[in-house]
Amino acid sequence: MWCRLAFILTFLQLSTASDMDNPIIIIGSGLSGFAAARRLMDNDINNIVILEAENRIGGRINSVRFSDGIIDLGAQWVHGQKNNLIYEMTRNNFDFGTTPFEEMYSTFVLTNGTKTDQKDIRKIVDVAYKIIDDIDDLEDPQGSIGETFNKKFDKALKSSKLKNIEPSVIELMKENIERNYNGYTASNSWYDLSAKKNSEEGKASGNQYLTWKKQGFKTFFNFLTKKAPNPAQYLNIESKVQLNKKVTNIKYNTKDETSNVAVTCSDGSSYSAKHVIFTPSLGVLKKYHESLFSPALPQQKILAIKNYGFGTVGKVFLEFEHPFWLEQGKPFLAYEFLWLEQDKKEAKSTNREWMINITGIYVVDQFPNLLEVFLGGSNLNEFETFSDSKITEDCMWLLEKSLSKSLPKPKAMTRTKWLTNDNFLGAYSYGSMDAEKANIGPKDIAESILNADESPILLFAGEATDEKYPSMAHGAVRSGFRAADEIVKFYE
Ligand SMILES: Cc1cc2nc3c(=O)[nH]c(=O)nc-3n(C[C@H](O)[C@H](O)[C@H](O)COP(=O)(O)OP(=O)(O)OC[C@H]3O[C@@H](n4cnc5c(N)ncnc54)[C@H](O)[C@@H]3O)c2cc1C
Ligand SMILES: *[C@@H]1O[C@H](CO)[C@@H](O)[C@H](O)[C@H]1NC(C)=O
Ligand SMILES: *[C@@H]1O[C@H](CO)[C@@H](O)[C@H](O)[C@H]1NC(C)=O
Repeated sequence: MWCRLAFILTFLQLSTASDMDNPIIIIGSGLSGFAAARRLMDNDINNIVILEAENRIGGRINSVRFSDGIIDLGAQWVHGQKNNLIYEMTRNNFDFGTTPFEEMYSTFVLTNGTKTDQKDIRKIVDVAYKIIDDIDDLEDPQGSIGETFNKKFDKALKSSKLKNIEPSVIELMKENIERNYNGYTASNSWYDLSAKKNSEEGKASGNQYLTWKKQGFKTFFNFLTKKAPNPAQYLNIESKVQLNKKVTNIKYNTKDETSNVAVTCSDGSSYSAKHVIFTPSLGVLKKYHESLFSPALPQQKILAIKNYGFGTVGKVFLEFEHPFWLEQGKPFLAYEFLWLEQDKKEAKSTNREWMINITGIYVVDQFPNLLEVFLGGSNLNEFETFSDSKITEDCMWLLEKSLSKSLPKPKAMTRTKWLTNDNFLGAYSYGSMDAEKANIGPKDIAESILNADESPILLFAGEATDEKYPSMAHGAVRSGFRAADEIVKFYE
């Protein structure tokens, strides 16, 4: 037994010694960076350095303490179960919660505070979401999601179900549906969303809104490092991370197979590696690809970086003493706002235009005293530059106005700033009309750059490089595995 163990140990040492010559740098400690490290280490490739610009690990997973638990400023829901790597890696060892967006209706309120007939509105919601489901399954989709929706919705309006509903309500609801769709996809307009690109993406079926209850999405990092479910298998990926290392230049040479990639950081430090996996967001690539890479990236990749969509969403969490939104015995999911023209005008003239982009104010699973404001679009600059106190006051203004009563002030608030953070520059990617016209997609962003000996020296991972689930957290994980596999394959 001893003997055998000694033999195995020597063998292990030998194999790690050999990869000393082939250091790997992963840029970014988000889901894709950690997934890549995990897959490399699973294959006994341990000579890894992860360079992270922020002072924390996680990237667009940012679980923070709030109220009496942990909430998510970044990804919050596990979207789907079947073929969802995140769900599959955790299902047997984590008991998920859910936000019942698909089982319950929101409470729709007119911004002037007059109560409105929820029954009519629910009929519109049913018809609209049926159309949106159908768009996902179209055989040969043409044009934008917005145009496709309008065509089908106009047809549905002529059907009996919606015939007696007041046209003004239908118009208000149409705006609401668009706002929700934009919020979900981080696009500023559904006329900029390609129906074709949308249909090329996969969708993990099953519950689309699983939550991490009070523990936050960062729980998943324990599964990536194998701390969970069995701590004995822990891979110490955290120890490979160097924080506050903002990469400013990546110099590579495709002609000379003996040359390493040189990575330089803003603090002047530099690193040398045989393989570099680049994972920062498409927003970072759009703004910095010219200064980041020397020589310049291939034309096709630049075309893809420029044309694939990247948008923003925002969130505000408000904590209250009591859940004023609960009426005795009535279940509650969310407020959604039907903006009347004069209220839009008032919002604009009082510096509250950002509020028109709120998709809804939702309950938060397991936090009975919290509300979550969600907003979509790429025009979130104002929202992000306003102070916390103004944002809170504005939220209360809208709630009091639409519910037509005075309400208690929140005890605490926290909010996001993804767009103005130079290490993200937005929230997630989307299949834009420009992407369709340029005939590019995540695959072109993903394409590795090979050396003369076919070794992948510069690899691209991250949410926007995943062909099947771009934008999603599980897409990010998949992309990290994919990039690591390319390196592993090279050494086989
Ligand atoms: C508000 C919000 C809500 C979301 N909600 C959901 C959801 O509910 N469900 C879901 O599935 N997905 C959701 N997403 C998407 C999900 O968060 C992402 O798909 C995923 O986390 C992206 O991981 P990544 O590794 O590709 O990128 P990132 O997490 O962005 O990782 C890249 C890392 O690179 C670092 N970096 C950037 N520039 C540099 C540099 N120059 N040098 C060094 N490091 C650098 C960044 O700081 C970051 O840590 C949401 C995203 C946001 C922002
Ligand atoms: C609010 O707007 C609705 C729809 O336009 C209208 O029917 C109602 O009278 C308005 N209420 C007030 C108080 O102005
Ligand atoms: C945000 O609101 C503006 C109007 O103020 C509108 O033009 C834009 O389309 C909205 N964006 C989204 C994502 O709803």
